[in-house]
Amino acid sequence: MVVGQIIGGEYGELLVRQKSGQIIEIGDLLSIDDIILQVYDLAYGSLLEDTDIARMSGMQLEGYDDTSLMEEEIRNYVSAKAKPLVHVKKGVAKIPKRLPGFFGTVDRVKKDDFYFMEEPENSLYLGKVRSGSMVLDVPVKINGKEALSHHILIPATTGRGKSNLVKVMLWDMVPKEWCGVLVIDPHDEYFGRNEIGIKDHHDARDKVLYYSPNPPKGGYSLRINISLLRPWNLRGIIDITDAQSQAMYVYYNIYHDNWLKAILRAEAEDAKAHGIHETTLNVLQRKLQLSFDVRMVNGEVVPRGSIFVTQGSDNMVNEIADALEDGKKVILDTSSMSGDKELLIAGMITDRVFNRYKKYKELGELDSKPTIGIVIEEAPRVLGERGGRNVFHSIAREGRKFRVGLIAITQLSSMIPREILANMNTKIILGNEMKSEREAIIGSAAQDLSKDGKNIASLDKGEALVSSIFTKFAVPIKIDLFDDVVEGGRKKTKLEFFG
Ligand SMILES: Nc1ncnc2c1ncn2[C@@H]1O[C@H](COP(=O)(O)OP(=O)(O)O)[C@@H](O)[C@H]1O
Ligand SMILES: [Mg+2]
Repeated sequence: MVVGQIIGGEYGELLVRQKSGQIIEIGDLLSIDDIILQVYDLAYGSLLEDTDIARMSGMQLEGYDDTSLMEEEIRNYVSAKAKPLVHVKKGVAKIPKRLPGFFGTVDRVKKDDFYFMEEPENSLYLGKVRSGSMVLDVPVKINGKEALSHHILIPATTGRGKSNLVKVMLWDMVPKEWCGVLVIDPHDEYFGRNEIGIKDHHDARDKVLYYSPNPPKGGYSLRINISLLRPWNLRGIIDITDAQSQAMYVYYNIYHDNWLKAILRAEAEDAKAHGIHETTLNVLQRKLQLSFDVRMVNGEVVPRGSIFVTQGSDNMVNEIADALEDGKKVILDTSSMSGDKELLIAGMITDRVFNRYKKYKELGELDSKPTIGIVIEEAPRVLGERGGRNVFHSIAREGRKFRVGLIAITQLSSMIPREILANMNTKIILGNEMKSEREAIIGSAAQDLSKDGKNIASLDKGEALVSSIFTKFAVPIKIDLFDDVVEGGRKKTKLEFFG
């Protein structure tokens, strides 16, 4: 259906005159020849002089007779600015390098225009192609295995659908063998303890593990024996001075697994013998007691809470790492923990997996392993400047060499160093009204999104723009509502069952 005509502009900035009776919106996809355009701005156009328009408006407002324009739809119009998104040549998507025909008419895109989109290997479903606010029945899938190891960033303001998107992605990944996913869930919203969630997937029983400090039936207890901690697990997560850090390493080198207990028990004399200042020891002891929720009773380390323990549970980190390596999805309910504890635990597990994968790489065994994804909320907590050199930083920098990637969720991309942002090679951009945030995202995207500021600002709940080195162009999508996906999954299972 013809919605307009090209009346001017230049490469990357075409002017389309809207046909009267048609409505073109920001974000709409239009097609002309074999090129798909995307509208990024709208303005009025008129053949009349400004003064004439003002005079006529005055007459209409003040009640003078018949001032209606002859052929108004010809004189006044809406003009849309559009940029070429993709050029389809013999079924293959290319970056457009030419202008569509001058004065050519443009149509709205149809499902068939996307015949070139094919099913990638190890696919990960994200949503459906969206033209403005209209959804087309064209699924958007990326090569998930590649995308995951090159990190996925999900930036948006609160309430735009980040969590919903992660649920939709997890649902799709549950049965897939090419990835293991660790979900650190500070809102306990993914498993679906009390509502619909990942647990409702028909493969969940075999493929999903749920760890919680107070697990429901079928879940596992989230408890960590403090002997599993290593000094480097604290790096970039707990504020520690160099002197304190050195003290930890001194004890670790002497006492190995028992280093933490040894520090907590240490007397000033003992520390002095290892070259550690009394005040350093005292402050460190207090910090460690606080971080790990333990206290000293008659020279013994006693847990105060239920998460960090001194006896038993010494295999949890390995169990989780095994499950991930087995392509399972592991959800950690960290909703009852302080941020520090959450990150300590997440960091320990991540560190274990990362080290194993480094080893596999050395041994040349990486190809037989699933890619590991780590879902982390409020990512700037660990990726921001303050984070220093924690394991998440290391993964963001070099994880892709070892097939370990982050799925980083954030409201504040601007707090993540540019170098790391640029390393996140797939960005699923949801709505954001903050200009500084949009600029940080646009400045580090895989495609040129310099014209997409308004487009991103106007994204509604569940509407997104996928910019990835694994897509030929920045694909506008509508993400399904998770509840609908679950419902659809149920119907399908029923059909299979009876069919
Ligand atoms: N894809 C979507 N389609 C329709 N509505 C959505 C979609 N995603 C989210 N919503 C709505 O927006 C609300 C907030 O979504 P949520 O995923 O919790 O946002 P965020 O995690 O970004 O704060 C949801 O409760 C839901 O009602
Ligand atoms: Mg959320």
